[in-house]
Parts: sequence; C-alpha cells; structure tokens
Amino acid sequence: MRPILPIPVLLAWAVLLCGGTYVVTARSDAATATDGPSQQDITALKERFRRPDGVPHPKANPATPEKVTLGKALFFDPRLSRSGSVSCATCHNPSLGWSDGLTRAVGFGMVLLPRRTPPMRNLAWGSAFQWDGRADSLEAQARMPITAPDEMNMSMDLVVERLKAVPGYAPLFREAFGDEEPISARNVTAALAAFQRTLVSGKAPFDRWIEGEEAALGADARRGFALFTGKANCAACHSGWRFTDDSFHDIGLKAGDDLGRGKFAPPSVTAMRYAFKTPSLRDLRMQGPYMHDGQLGSLDAVIEHYVEGGERRPSLSFEMKPVALSTQERRDLTAFLESLAADPAALTLPHLP
Ligand code: HEC
Ligand code: HEC
Repeated sequence: MRPILPIPVLLAWAVLLCGGTYVVTARSDAATATDGPSQQDITALKERFRRPDGVPHPKANPATPEKVTLGKALFFDPRLSRSGSVSCATCHNPSLGWSDGLTRAVGFGMVLLPRRTPPMRNLAWGSAFQWDGRADSLEAQARMPITAPDEMNMSMDLVVERLKAVPGYAPLFREAFGDEEPISARNVTAALAAFQRTLVSGKAPFDRWIEGEEAALGADARRGFALFTGKANCAACHSGWRFTDDSFHDIGLKAGDDLGRGKFAPPSVTAMRYAFKTPSLRDLRMQGPYMHDGQLGSLDAVIEHYVEGGERRPSLSFEMKPVALSTQERRDLTAFLESLAADPAALTLPHLP
C-alpha cells in the first residue's frame, strides 16, 4: 500500500517540525519507471500529469471579475514605477510568454539585474515565488518589484498617492473591494495577485493525450515522455502537471556569487547552495534563454547539460547523474517538451483609467 503522502513530503514535514523554516526538499512522487514502461505503468504515470479543473484562489483573497479586471489594469500600468515608464508587463510581456526573452532582466536606469524574468503561468498553484522562493504568496511578491530600487523603484505610499490622483481608478477599486478607503497598498497587491492567478496554461497536445486522444502525441514525443519519466530522470524534479516540485535544487550549472535558496538556509545545509526553484516546463519558449540567469541559450544546450550531469560539487542534487542519450533520444525528449506548449490565448489589453 502506498503511504498517504510521498516519503519526501513526510521528510520535509519532519524537517519543518524539527524547527526548520525553509523547505529542504518537498519532492512529490517522482516516477520510477525504467527504459521500457509497460502499458499499465504508462496509464498510472499519466494520472500523475493530469491537469486539475478550476483555479485555486486563497480564502483571504477570493477572486471576483472586478478584482481581476483591476489587477490586470494595474499590471499593465507604468504609473506603478517611479519613472512612469515601466509596468509589470514591461518585463512580463504576454507576447513573450509573460517574460522578456532576455538572458537577464533590465531594471530601473537600464541596470542589468542578476536574474532572468521568469515566465508567468499556473502561479495559482505555486507555494514559493521568485527563483529563490523568498516570497510565500503572490500578494507578498507583488510588493517586491514595485519597491525594489533596481526595478520599479517606488514606495507603496507613493503608488497609492498616484493612483488616488487618477479619477478612473476610484470606481474600479470600489467595485473590486467596496471598502471605505479602497485604494490602499494591500488592495493593490491583492488585485495584482488575483489577476496573476488567472494566467493558466492552455490545453497542450500532451494534455489531450493524457485525456485519451492517442493521436495528439507523435511516437517521438511519447518516447520522450518515457525517457523524461524513466532513464533521463527529469520527472524526479519536474513532477506533476505543472512539471515542477516547487522545490529548490542545485543542478550543477556554472555558478557565480548568487547562492539562490542558499542565502536563506544555514551554511550547514549544503544542498541549498546554488539551489533555485524548479521551473515549470509548460509553454517553454523554445528559443530560450533558460535557467535563472539565462546561461543556457538553447534547448540542445539544456539537454547536453543533463547528459553531462552538472558540475560535481557538494551541493549538487543527488538526482543529478550523467545520462547517455543518443541523438534520437535527445530529439524525442525535445519533441516531448514541445508537446507541453499550448497555442497562446488571445489577450485583450486593458483600458487604463
Ligand atoms: C525589471 C523587470 C521586472 C519588472 C518590472 C517586474 N518583474 Fe516580476 N520578475 C522579474 C525578475 C527578474 C524576477 C525573478 C526575481 C528573483 O528571482 O529574484 C521576477 C519574478 C516575478 C514573480 C515570481 C514568479 C515565479 O515563478 O516565482 C512574479 C509573480 C512576478 N515577478 C510578478 C511581477 C509583478 C506583479 C510585477 C509588477 C508589480 C513585476 N513582476 C514587475 C522581473 C520583473
Ligand atoms: C535535481 C532536479 C532536476 C532534475 C533531475 C532535472 N531538472 Fe530541469 N531544472 C531543475 C531546476 C532546479 C532548474 C532551474 C535551475 C536554475 O535556473 O538554476 C531546471 C531547469 C530546467 C529547464 C529550463 C527551464 C527554464 O524556463 O529556464 C529545462 C528546459 C529543464 N530543466 C529540463 C529538464 C530535463 C529535460 C530534465 C531531464 C533530462 C531535467 N530538467 C532534470 C531541476 C531539475
């Protein structure tokens, strides 16, 4: 009989109960199939990647159409930045998969930031945000880019003051929050978070295959799925329908002085040094760049990295081991990753008050 919770989750709980305040590993049930899974194995595996229905919104910040409409306007409004020229969508550009296509983001005063802009999708199911997980909710996250001196360089007070000076915002906030004093820092971040939770990946060929449409996936992508969950061990970390375990790993990339999650863990916790959040693999921009600092420019380079197994160092995840993949197997893996992308949904830009 399987335990109710996967062992790694139980272990993570044990760590938390013992006083740990950071997640060392919360790996969800990874696939353990080897090279040639049987049809039965495939059916069981498929269940682990089935998309859920609906979108979860926290009780403390339930979504309403009015709140989402307001959040969308705020997301696209450059008045949230000190210069008046940078909105969230400047970096999280919907036509570039809610990212910017750059190796690393460009911030206030054209400063090159240390990390890449992560694409935004399926964040409603996330539990830790930013590459190092330092924000525990989207509400908390939204303050960070607004107030960071090298991003939008504002204060929340100034944001509120500016929005109060725009007559069109008062009714939008009132419809969304109905408070006496609806334009507040709290409501700005609540509306932004509610809007971001509505950004959900569309149905990809892979999803149609999971639902039983055999022809939705070519033989190459199906072989790629078997590799992904078997020999290549990708699903050890890219698990579940979002293809992330929401945990942090050092995968042995070229390291600079960015310790990632390691910045928040005691130095004795070696595994968190150079550990970054496992990104989702849905709707990957096929042309890259990839990783927290965009250091790998192509999908071929990513696969080559996993073939070599990453730099051996004490923090390297124990799930990282060199794996020999033939040219055909690399193609199959790529075909599988491509099958996780849905056609982008049409987006209507908001009307800014
Ligand atoms: C200057 C470019 C830039 C702007 C402007 C910007 N972001 Fe980001 N965003 C980034 C970068 C870079 C990261 C990764 C930061 C890190 O990990 O330290 C990020 C991370 C995020 C994340 C975490 C995603 C994840 O997968 O964990 C969210 C959510 C987000 N931004 C929302 C916003 C919102 C909301 C705004 C506007 C209020 C905004 N961003 C403005 C560049 C930007
Ligand atoms: C030990 C856990 C782990 C394993 C195993 C693993 N990954 Fe990753 N993957 C990660 C983490 C963590 C990152 C982000 C690392 C960073 O930016 O520092 C990542 C990044 C990626 C990216 C870049 C995504 C982006 O948006 O930048 C791709 C693509 C990817 N992995 C595919 C794979 C494939 C294919 C395999 C199997 C061959 C695999 N991964 C195995 C944890 C893992």
